[in-house]
Order: sequence, then C-alpha cells, then structure tokens
Amino acid sequence: MITSSTTTAVRLASHRLLVPSSRRSLSSSAANQFRQKAQANNEENIRRILPYLSVAALAVGTIHLSKKESTAAENKEKVEEKFATYWPQNVMILFGPPGAGKGTQAPKIEGVLGIPQLSTGDMLRAAVAEGTPVGKKAEAVMKAGGLVSDEIVIGIIEDRIKHDDCRFGFILDGFPRTIEQAKALDAMLAKEGACVTKVIEFQVPDKVLEERITGRWIHKKSGRSYHIKYAPPKSMKSTGWFTRTIVPESMKDDFTGEPLIQRPDDTSSALVKRLASYHNDTVPILKHYEPAGVVKAVNANQGMNDVWNSTLESLKRN
Ligand code: AP5
Repeated sequence: MITSSTTTAVRLASHRLLVPSSRRSLSSSAANQFRQKAQANNEENIRRILPYLSVAALAVGTIHLSKKESTAAENKEKVEEKFATYWPQNVMILFGPPGAGKGTQAPKIEGVLGIPQLSTGDMLRAAVAEGTPVGKKAEAVMKAGGLVSDEIVIGIIEDRIKHDDCRFGFILDGFPRTIEQAKALDAMLAKEGACVTKVIEFQVPDKVLEERITGRWIHKKSGRSYHIKYAPPKSMKSTGWFTRTIVPESMKDDFTGEPLIQRPDDTSSALVKRLASYHNDTVPILKHYEPAGVVKAVNANQGMNDVWNSTLESLKRN
C-alpha cells in the first residue's frame, strides 16, 4: 500500500538523484557561489580543450574535403577519358591576312573552348629568339615577310599536336598557309580519325591593315598585342601637339610592366610581301575547305568587341 509518506520519500529520493549531492546540502548563497565556481570551471575546461577540439574538427573537415576533392578529380578524369575516346576533336583554323585580328581574338576563343591556340608565327619567333636550327633558317625569311618552308612548319605542328593539351582539339593560328600545308594537316588528322571542324575567316580590306600592322606593339613573353590607337598600353606616352610621337620607353605591358617591342616584320615594306603571299598562297585554302561546309566568315573590319561578338556567333554549331 502506498502512503503519502512513501510518496514524499520517493519524491525526495528522485530529487536527490537529479540534484548533485554537494549542492543539496548548501544554502542558497553558497549555492550561488558554487554555481559561479562550477561555471568558471566549465569555461576553463572548455578553454583548455578548445585547441584540441579545433584541430580535431579541422582534421575531420580536411579528411572530408580531401575525400570530396579526390572524388571530384576522379569524376573529372572519367569524363575527360570519355570525351577523349568518343568525342570528335575540335580542330579550328583562324584564317585571315596579317593584322586581321587572329592573335587578338584567339585567347578569347581559348577561354571559351578550353583548347589551346597554336600560333606558328609565335613558335617560329620563339625558335628565332632561342637561336635553334629552325630559328636560324626562319629568321631572314620572316623579317622580309616571306613564308617559311612547308617542311619546317608542318614538322612543328605535327610535334605540337601530339601534346596532351591538344587531345580535345586546338586552334590553329597562321597554319595552314599553303595548299600543301592544308593537305599535310588533313593527312595527320586523318591518322587520328579527326578532321578540320571549323575555319573562321576574318575579313578585312587590305587598306585597313597597314595602320594595324605598323601601330602594333607586342609583349614578347606572352604574345600580348597592343596598338598605339586601338589598344594602347596604360603606360603609353606621346609628345607633340600636332603629330603625336610615341615615346618608345613608355610602351610597357599592362600586366608585367615589361617593355613592349615591335616585330621586325611589322613594316610597310614587309607587309606588301606578306599580303602578296596571303592572296596567292593562302586564300586558295578556303576553296579547299568550303565543300566540307566548315568555313564561317567574320567581319573583322569593325571594333574589337564587335569582332568578338561575331566570332562567338561563328563558334556555334550552326
Ligand atoms: P604570324 O605571326 O602568323 O603573322 P600573321 O599571319 O601575318 O598575322 P599577324 O600576327 O600579323 O596578324 P593577326 O591577325 O594575328 O593580327 P593581330 O590580332 O595581332 O606569322 C609571321 C610570319 O611567320 C609570317 O610572315 C611567316 O614568315 C612565318 N609563318 C608563320 N606561319 C607560317 C606558316 N604556316 N607557313 C610559313 N610561314 C609561316 O592584330 C594586329 C593589330 O591590330 C594589333 O595591334 C591589334 O591590337 C590591332 N587590332 C586587332 N583587331 C582590331 C580591330 N578590330 N580594330 C582595330 N585594331 C585591331
């Protein structure tokens, strides 16, 4: 039988179980002191173990993240492998006369498509600067505005497209420049089951090109191109009121501050020769690729941004 005293005893007992024994026997002011002390102790304990907790949390986080990262990397590799095995390579030719804007637009196309720009002009200039056997053969021809032999440039491209960064495709800037080079390119692509997928023709009348070529300055290391009128570097200074004369020492790369140079073939006299070889040797290549339906024309005789918008449009499938 349960009496009221039993109930009280049970209530007291359960209270004892819930309240710490040391507290039970204390008066309320002592209890306050005790509470403050206990709180201080707790805070002190937390302070002591906090660095260990943070390290542990960081370690757990890092393991979690590195697991995530490695899974993302594995997935990326799988997708890349799939593309490399089943998808056709994107092989694009930037076509146009000297100064048409191929080198200006190429880095932007690279940015959109994620495939590298291969400029035979840049590769040959690097060979000249390094004084390699190819560079020694090419130097005088290039300075005069002539074409380097097919054998040399075909060899350069054949080696370059074997690099891993070309497995999804590449953007050819300045190659092919003769029908022989075009046929050699088709043959090397055919070995891999690939073909030219797009030729973007930058159309500019010859009369516009002299101003573009003679006003161009470049940053040798990066190939970045500037123009005294259309794309001046931030540092550019000029003297004179009427006929402005550029101060050559003020021509510096916007990103590195390094000096800009003018290409030895960017002269009016070399341009005459470059344009002649463009019309005689290079333009016939368009007829070679037209039947495949891959040639897209871009009006390159407009502001750089408009040229870019038209270029972007021409990159689309149709
Ligand atoms: P390469 O370096 O290929 O020269 P290129 O074909 O003559 O072309 P450029 O680099 O002069 O012109 P671009 O169209 O790139 O113009 P950019 O964008 O800079 O070849 C050089 C030499 O190497 C050849 O002559 C040959 O000897 C040899 N070579 C190379 N490949 C060869 C091959 N396959 N076979 C044999 N020989 C080979 O623009 C020009 C200027 O205009 C810049 O200052 C720019 O800022 C400005 N600009 C650009 N767009 C605009 C715009 N829309 N409005 C106003 N200004 C603009």
